[in-house]
Amino acid sequence: MKNVNRVTSIEQGCAENRLDQIVGDSPALESVLAEVERVGPTDSTVLVLGETGTGKELIAHAIHNLSGRCGRPFVKLNCSAIPFDLLESELFGHEKGAFTGAVSQKIGRFEIADTGTLFLDEIGDLPLAVQPKLLRVLQEQEFERLGSGRTHRINVRLVAATHRDLAQMVARHEFRSDLYYRLNVFPVVLPPLRERREDIAQLVSHFAELFARRMSKRIEQIPQTTMNEFIAYSWPGNVRELQNLIERAVIRSDNGILPNPLPISQKKAVTPIISRSTLRDAETALILQTLSATGGIVGGPRGAAVRLGLKRTTLITKMKRLGIYRTRPQGHTDALQEGSESEPLFKPDADDGPSGNNDVRGALV
Ligand SMILES: Nc1ncnc2c1ncn2[C@@H]1O[C@H](COP(=O)(O)OP(=O)(O)OP(=O)(O)O)[C@@H](O)[C@H]1O
Ligand SMILES: [Mg+2]
Repeated sequence: MKNVNRVTSIEQGCAENRLDQIVGDSPALESVLAEVERVGPTDSTVLVLGETGTGKELIAHAIHNLSGRCGRPFVKLNCSAIPFDLLESELFGHEKGAFTGAVSQKIGRFEIADTGTLFLDEIGDLPLAVQPKLLRVLQEQEFERLGSGRTHRINVRLVAATHRDLAQMVARHEFRSDLYYRLNVFPVVLPPLRERREDIAQLVSHFAELFARRMSKRIEQIPQTTMNEFIAYSWPGNVRELQNLIERAVIRSDNGILPNPLPISQKKAVTPIISRSTLRDAETALILQTLSATGGIVGGPRGAAVRLGLKRTTLITKMKRLGIYRTRPQGHTDALQEGSESEPLFKPDADDGPSGNNDVRGALV
């Protein structure tokens, strides 16, 4: 067994930064990160699965950083971005004159990644013709450059990712089953953002701060109505879409308040999309819908709790659990005090008490 559990002082430095860039603490993300922490330090092949923009590449980096290979090469190849006839040479390299146009020797990604990690992105797009060669190098850790009979031995850990359903591709004979089983040693499945809505507020604040810093702007407030719409939106493009929308909103902001970047048509599309999956999502949708109908009022005869047939405190507990923030009465703002830069941009109300009571914030963030 080639278990890479050797921890030198440099590698310890790597391990300290391992999951730092990954924002969110939803139970769904936490359980993925627990899997990543378990498999990271081994030498096992990892298959990262998930919809577009869920953070597959980020996770691949984290796996490398958690391993004893941290500090050694992390080499990426996107199988869908390289023309079919160049892919083999890109992976394994070639000798001068190996084929028309091979005017000089080329070192392939496997050789570059030696002692480190090779990240094969969009592995579902790897042509069938190249798949047996990849299988061989995974099984035997050896290969030949194109146009050469010399066998190279390498020590590479493979992390692969795809948004495609590889099992279905195998069933349709579009992907070799032997390679699939060899890759599928340890699958890590990243849930889409709509199934971990608790992460949305943190991600929004994180990217608002990041882009504000980059653009030398001040974002002092994220209105609760805007945040609630973010939480309810279906995010088909996942974290990448969220990141890009927040960048757009920061560009547009000119008064310290983050404008709502969701187009009207998308805001309207929120509820039906939510009702698609879990009970949790359906509950979130219903509560948000009711809060929207009551203008954000939770308690009292015209509040959301009465409409939902719940006690006010029960509804507040549910909202906390689901990461829903109450829309405050119109005209009330949560602007931060001057100079309080470490304060969160978004300050949810955790109570239905008198407006202006800021002591309860933080309970949901
Ligand atoms: N949990 C997270 N915390 C912070 N940033 C994240 C998180 N998840 C994703 N991102 C950011 O979102 C963007 C998209 O992530 P990434 O490229 O890893 O997604 P992907 O699953 O590889 O997407 P694709 O399938 O389209 O290649 C990146 O800028 C990444 O840094
Ligand atoms: Mg990717």
